[in-house]
Amino acid sequence: MTKGSVLVTGGAGYIGSHTLRALARAGWRPVAFDDLSLGFAEAAKGFELIEGDVRDGPALSRAIEAHGAVAVIHLAGLIEVARSVSRPDLFWDSNVAGTAALLSAMRAHAVPRLVFSSSAAVYGHVAGAAGEKPLTEDLPKAPASPYGDTKLAGERMIAAHCAAFGLTAIALRYFNAAGADPSGELGEAHEPETHLIPLAIDAALGQRGPLTVFGTDFPTPDGTCVRDYIHVSDLAEAHVAALEAPRAAGAFEPLNVGTGRGWSVLEVIAAVERALGRPVPRALGPRRAGDPPSLVANPARALERLEWRPKSSSLDEIVASAARWHRAPRYGKRGLGGDGP
Ligand code: UFG
Repeated sequence: MTKGSVLVTGGAGYIGSHTLRALARAGWRPVAFDDLSLGFAEAAKGFELIEGDVRDGPALSRAIEAHGAVAVIHLAGLIEVARSVSRPDLFWDSNVAGTAALLSAMRAHAVPRLVFSSSAAVYGHVAGAAGEKPLTEDLPKAPASPYGDTKLAGERMIAAHCAAFGLTAIALRYFNAAGADPSGELGEAHEPETHLIPLAIDAALGQRGPLTVFGTDFPTPDGTCVRDYIHVSDLAEAHVAALEAPRAAGAFEPLNVGTGRGWSVLEVIAAVERALGRPVPRALGPRRAGDPPSLVANPARALERLEWRPKSSSLDEIVASAARWHRAPRYGKRGLGGDGP
């Protein structure tokens, strides 16, 4: 495929902004499409940014047409698992209606290629049953949250479009994105922040109150949840590789993007303490709604299909890069402790 213009929905978000830079480094012309409800214009600095809602079909059509997009990377959506339990309506609207609107716009303009931001959350309870056994793509799916349901629905909708209309797509099932770009210009900024690594760092730096460990009675070695953390720069490179991977027209494939190694919440806290040389003040609390005990990737298929390797995803590298960013973030943190959308 000729390296042309690529529309990146959610391009001003955490993973999207890192992906814009990875695309540009690889010779593509990325254009961000983001409503800035969760993203930051500063995160897309230096790139064309179209302000628009991913459910707005005409706006998507105009963006695709104006830039002659040859592919779309679709990251726009809601991501917070616990929030999806209390407000499933918002998640079905943004993640499923948004994907439907995008697919229609792509079809109307014959855009042949899509990379979709999916999630390890599609495995859900299957992961719990499998314990720490790394997850392979073909396991039956049993999402533990409306968030996981909407990502699985998005995948299925895309797969059906591929089969019926000849679209070519890869769904990247992200495990836990973490860390920050080495430049210091970009990093994780969610409002409100709900993710473990930023909250643990902020707690250690005294920028917020103590971290609550959500659940100590999971069937895992130390009783806390196990997750597979992947550096956001490695994840961004996986999007470029997915865009460039040779594929037959009409093919659809989901790929796990993780490292194959799981870390418990307590192990992550210990890594933050090592990186900062300070304790992470914490309290032990009950489980959070929608959290499966363990989500660890078997990334073999992605390694093979994408000829991609995680390069910066040791836990210590992830935490060190996140700590650099959180000491001096360039944007975000307006909503410390806020209630969210
Ligand atoms: N955790 C705490 N205390 C906190 C925050 C998190 O103990 O204050 C725990 C969670 O219970 C979980 C682990 O830390 O066990 C990681 O939680 P995160 O919120 O950082 O990440 P999640 O695993 O919930 O979710 C992330 C993304 C989802 C994605 C999922 C896939 O937000 O979009 O990874 O694994 F689907």
